[in-house]
Amino acid sequence: MSNEVPRPFLKWAGGKGQLLNTIDDYFPIQFNRYFEPFLGGGAVFFHLYRQDFKGEVFLSDVNEELVIAYQTIRDSVDELIIELQSETYRAKEKKFYEIRAWDRKPEWKDVDSIQRIARMIYLNRTCYNGLYRVNKKGQFNVPFGKYDNPTICDEVNLRAVSKALTNARIQCIDFGEAVKDAQKGDFIYFDSPYQPVSDTAYFTDYTAAGFGEDEQRRLATVFGELHKRGCLVLESNSAAQLIQDLYSNKEYVINTIQAKRAISCDPKGRGNVAELLIRNYETTVQTRLVE
Ligand SMILES: C[S@@+](CC[C@H](N)C(=O)[O-])C[C@H]1O[C@@H](n2cnc3c(N)ncnc32)[C@H](O)[C@@H]1O
Repeated sequence: MSNEVPRPFLKWAGGKGQLLNTIDDYFPIQFNRYFEPFLGGGAVFFHLYRQDFKGEVFLSDVNEELVIAYQTIRDSVDELIIELQSETYRAKEKKFYEIRAWDRKPEWKDVDSIQRIARMIYLNRTCYNGLYRVNKKGQFNVPFGKYDNPTICDEVNLRAVSKALTNARIQCIDFGEAVKDAQKGDFIYFDSPYQPVSDTAYFTDYTAAGFGEDEQRRLATVFGELHKRGCLVLESNSAAQLIQDLYSNKEYVINTIQAKRAISCDPKGRGNVAELLIRNYETTVQTRLVE
């Protein structure tokens, strides 16, 4: 991914950083407002912003800590930078486990958002693979990552992110709630946790609740409602049979793209995986099939 700012301030599973140029080809040519209800690391929003989209923006996710991170960077970036630059956040293994344990203490629930989000960013930069994973009690449980000298406070990017978010509406809500007021001409990008193509193919534990087949069906229904309303809808998902069946409506266009993904059964650990981009509008690029 490029080093241009603003860019995601967290590494996030399923992040779209590698696919931006491909996805970009399928954006609608023109639209009014932008909705991203499965925000995650926000790679697509930041990309759009860097392309000079300055319209109204609605960003949301059900991960509460993630949403507080966006709100804190938007509203209190100076305080957050000062906190992150303090001696507390050093990338040493002992320090890491001390900071990771903060959410096991009863007083954690009263901690202010600056400290809470500084910890989140610190753990994301120093934990194994930059994963975000919590146990059933909502406690962060990824081990130390042993990186040499990770950048813990990327001040330039945090300030650029803060600026990009100035007028954004940022909420912790379910995707269905997030798009209920979307209107004709608005653009919605759905990047839900993917439907697994096999039982173990994808990591989807962003929250304790998970995202199963019923959720995929509900998402397809919401997609259909937005289509009827005249919204422009783009969705990324896996090429699982369920997804192909749910979006078989002849008015939708489905393109197959190749994504680089970690694959557990591949000895080299990485490979190309076919993914789907589903949309309900025309673009200048009719088919950019790279199979
Ligand atoms: C594949 S990730 C999005 C990745 C993002 N596009 C990026 O580039 O980083 C999916 C996100 O959906 C969120 N999510 C899961 N279930 C949800 C729901 N019911 N409503 C809204 N967001 C949800 C997860 O917390 C996670 O951040």
